[in-house]
Amino acid sequence: MAAKRRILVTSALPYANGHIHIGHLVEYLQTDIWVRFQKLMGHHCVYICADDTHGTAISLRAQAEGRSEEAVIAEMSDAHQRDFAAFGIAFDHYGSTNSESTRRYCHEIWKSLRAAGLVAEHEVEQLFDTAKGMFLSDRQVRGTCPRCGSKNQPGDNCGHCGATYSPADLADPVSVLSGTTPEVRTATHLFVTLDKERAFLEEWTQSGPLPSESANYLKNYFFNEKNENGELRPKPLQDWDVSRPAPYFGFEIPDSPGNYWYVWFDAPIGYIGSTADWCEKHGERVDDWWRSEKTEIHHFIGKDIQYFHTLFWPAMLKVGGFQLPTQVHIHGFLTVDGEKMSKSRGTFVRASTYLQHLDPAYLRYFYASKLTSKVEDLDLSLDEFVAKVNGDLVGKVVNLASRSAKFVAATGLSKKYPDDGGLFADFASAGTQIAKDYANGDYSRAMRRIMELADRANPYVEQAAPWELRKDPAKAQQLQDVCTVALNLFRQLCIYLAPVLPKLAVQCEELLGDPILNWKQAKKHLLGTPVAPFKHMMQRVERASIEAMIESSREESAPDLSTNAAAPQDSGEWLEKEPLAEQIGIEEFGKVDLRVARVLEAKEVPGADKLLQLTVSLGGTGTRNIFAGIKAAYAPESLVGKLVVIVANLAPRKMKFGLSEGMVVAAGPGGKDVFVLSPDSGAAPGQRVH
Ligand code: 2FM
Ligand code: ZN
Repeated sequence: MAAKRRILVTSALPYANGHIHIGHLVEYLQTDIWVRFQKLMGHHCVYICADDTHGTAISLRAQAEGRSEEAVIAEMSDAHQRDFAAFGIAFDHYGSTNSESTRRYCHEIWKSLRAAGLVAEHEVEQLFDTAKGMFLSDRQVRGTCPRCGSKNQPGDNCGHCGATYSPADLADPVSVLSGTTPEVRTATHLFVTLDKERAFLEEWTQSGPLPSESANYLKNYFFNEKNENGELRPKPLQDWDVSRPAPYFGFEIPDSPGNYWYVWFDAPIGYIGSTADWCEKHGERVDDWWRSEKTEIHHFIGKDIQYFHTLFWPAMLKVGGFQLPTQVHIHGFLTVDGEKMSKSRGTFVRASTYLQHLDPAYLRYFYASKLTSKVEDLDLSLDEFVAKVNGDLVGKVVNLASRSAKFVAATGLSKKYPDDGGLFADFASAGTQIAKDYANGDYSRAMRRIMELADRANPYVEQAAPWELRKDPAKAQQLQDVCTVALNLFRQLCIYLAPVLPKLAVQCEELLGDPILNWKQAKKHLLGTPVAPFKHMMQRVERASIEAMIESSREESAPDLSTNAAAPQDSGEWLEKEPLAEQIGIEEFGKVDLRVARVLEAKEVPGADKLLQLTVSLGGTGTRNIFAGIKAAYAPESLVGKLVVIVANLAPRKMKFGLSEGMVVAAGPGGKDVFVLSPDSGAAPGQRVH
């Protein structure tokens, strides 16, 4: 028997300043499936996570909402945990980086870095917003990437070419707080001199803990381009700036008052802090998990944050005397129907919105069917989603039980396992390969193998036709035997799917009275036990539910800022919430054809709680139909006859309720706070707005 392993698993700690969406869920579901699998194999596996709470974004939000950072953090932690629980993501502990335990480990690791001579001080030119009277954090500045020249990039790394830099390196920097050009001022920052750990990092990153794509990518940090002899020329690792001057929401650096650790310093230390909090509750010792060679440490992260987890973090762990990650599992980004998630297309779907329309089991299965061990993007094709859920889960798996269980509700399962032509034995031996696929993170392959088994079980039931056997009392034993086979095969599939579909595993337990607790159960027949009355297990997914989810995500796309009722006027807060867009030339503006239009008719749309349907005229003959998300702010009759401004050359958009042929221009965050723009009197329908 394989020895029981001790495995510590983490997912990246989500920022406390935003809600969980279907993009985040790729990682949390990927991790949860892996953890559930390891537990099913009988290993001592612990899944740790926490909210990532520090940094400027939280402070800005707290200020805008007139409450403390702690209040924002507490509310978001509840919301995150509610969403995760609803998707069946079962953390052993969910903590916060704003905890005493995380602070303690920050102090400890810092002391070790100092003792190892890895802390240096440099004068840093940092951008200072003179209008706001404060230094600006990386994300409070946007400008042109110094490497590739892409415009409107954040101050820390380029969304286009991936370069990392400091905000002062940006060309044309603009403060997102005030819209002004910040000035460069000097402040002393503390740095970790990573290059002193170069030999270790070079060796560690290439020694197997990372996917090969990532290991190769990291070589770029150690080496320049090849020289004329085809040799890679080493380059030094850059010092890492880990401090920020006050005001900053985070932990103050004990030996450098007035300076705070940058959020990315304490975020990964939160993995240890949160483990410590779990240990405290469960009578365990942190050192058994973080300082013992007997424990494996597995991080699951996205490819956008590999730099932090594969260079800084291992250096900090090594110097602090902690275990290094056994494996860093790295996934790609989510696309929906082949495109980036988009608020305007309604594909930027919050977890809570998804839950209003669809069963979380669908997404768990769909993601599992797409995830591999490679660092590659994952596409949520909505047609494929419907086909997989209805074809595989409902059509192949649940169907096995629904077509057989009711015929043995009175008799229970046979006492002796009947001849099934070797199906059960084949299913049992397939478990070894399926387990390997799960362990390697190749869930896609595991799902394929499971569905191949289901494809063998279903013809057995069709040929045996229990619905026919039941008509002949002389065939009662045969009926019981056929259903015993079908339900045993169903149960094997449920065991193999249990990491992905824990709820189905529970439903299987309720039906057959035997809990699914261990992978090995798939090797043993279930015989002579009662069968409960069959209860419906899973609905088919309806395309209309998906459309409704997309529609309500589209309507939600305006930032939810409605809690900000007490905020002062003209304070610059709206610029903070929505920074100015990238500068454009007059020709680009000219592409947007804004026209004055008269509202001829306005009415409510049955079934849409945010929309009004407007009929507008640009003068002359012909009218346009426009759906506008302004119902909470305007009574339909108040709009009739009014002049408004519309985007007249916007491509028509097919919505659930009909075609929308343009967009009414309005200001404000949404909900009741929407303010439709109208021209001064004298303007006429059809006139262009320049
Ligand atoms: O990228 C992010 O969402 C970060 N909040 C992840 C932090 S992971 C860990 F280091 F804490
Ligand atoms: Zn760039």
